[in-house]
Amino acid sequence: MQRNPLSRLALFGTVACSVMCSLTLLAGCGDKGAGGGGGASDTGPIKVGFYGDLTGSTATFGKSSQEGIELALEEINKQPPLGRPLELISEDDQGKPQNATTAVNKLTSQDQVVAVLGEVASSRSLAAAPTCQNAKIPMITPASTNPEVTRVGDYIFRICFIDPFQGSVMAKFALGTLKAKRAAILWDVKNDYSKGLQQFFKETFTAGGGQVVSEPSFSEGDTNFDAQLNTIKQAKPDVIFVPGYYTEVGTIARQARDQGITIPLLGGDGWDSPKLFEGAGNALEGCYMSNHYSAESDAPEVQTFIAAYKAKFGGKVPDAMAALGFDAAKILADAITRAGGTDSEKLRDAIGQTKDYSGVTGKITLDDKRNANKAAVVMRIKGKEFKYVETVNP
Ligand code: PHE
Repeated sequence: MQRNPLSRLALFGTVACSVMCSLTLLAGCGDKGAGGGGGASDTGPIKVGFYGDLTGSTATFGKSSQEGIELALEEINKQPPLGRPLELISEDDQGKPQNATTAVNKLTSQDQVVAVLGEVASSRSLAAAPTCQNAKIPMITPASTNPEVTRVGDYIFRICFIDPFQGSVMAKFALGTLKAKRAAILWDVKNDYSKGLQQFFKETFTAGGGQVVSEPSFSEGDTNFDAQLNTIKQAKPDVIFVPGYYTEVGTIARQARDQGITIPLLGGDGWDSPKLFEGAGNALEGCYMSNHYSAESDAPEVQTFIAAYKAKFGGKVPDAMAALGFDAAKILADAITRAGGTDSEKLRDAIGQTKDYSGVTGKITLDDKRNANKAAVVMRIKGKEFKYVETVNP
């Protein structure tokens, strides 16, 4: 591990240290001369970090976003910013917040990336963002929607909407379109995203005249939801809002139907995975979720992206994670060009000035809180597909 100079000192002693320190200083000089920062030299590839869950219980999140980023880099590198190709260094955090911190530590100190893309899940972004902030390495999360994430500091950005909006979209949909008066909420206490949406949905639903009649919780990794579903059943809701990730949501849906609960389940972007249906079978037929993009859109940005993604990844239709990863990488490349270099402060400012960027997931303008103000789509599940219902503007 090169990240702690003190441990080097202990390991190699004073003589070795003085050699290494002078090497470090030299490298530092080179960076400054190039307007460097991020530890990169002024020639050769520009290193960009990525961290995500590639092997854990939300592995489709990490894989999809990584694929979206890889596709973007392939396109970017045909005409690279500053004439230097972007090189991606990926870290698997296995979906664990503590591993996310370790991964970002490695990316920022050992690999010396100029910026970090990730995480997608809010709890993992929250765990690792302080490391980027302290290292002054800009981090762009493609998909973390919990409001706290970008509050970590001025180096932390997102290119997606936030959950006070997403929660209100589904609450209004339940009240207005489904005419629901009574809602239950089944949420994950271990997941910041889920906790946030539970609160934001409730605020809008009750403000709109609805009543939240039951709100039991579970913990990520649980596999039996019978007790919570039984409590919910007794409370006689019209809908159940389940702001969780696809692995648990699939099981919850199947167990709800097994208990004879037939009312619609509603959710958010965390449902979006081709694996949702492995757990759910057909238990989510006719249910609704909010999301960042619809593959059915005929916008040229969307259709060009889908065609390129399918060509690169064996005909697969990209999910929202892939689209957001793609947009995040393109926005970073655009900011590097506008910054005219990789100096971390200049890069931070250039990312923050992103304005009217026409992404796959919509027009992206970052506000002074480093969030994007974007529309959401409501999707309905039919077979094993998400079908477009409507677009909701902020
Ligand atoms: N918004 C989720 C979070 O903050 C992550 C997510 C985004 C999941 C998009 C699926 C699709 O944790």
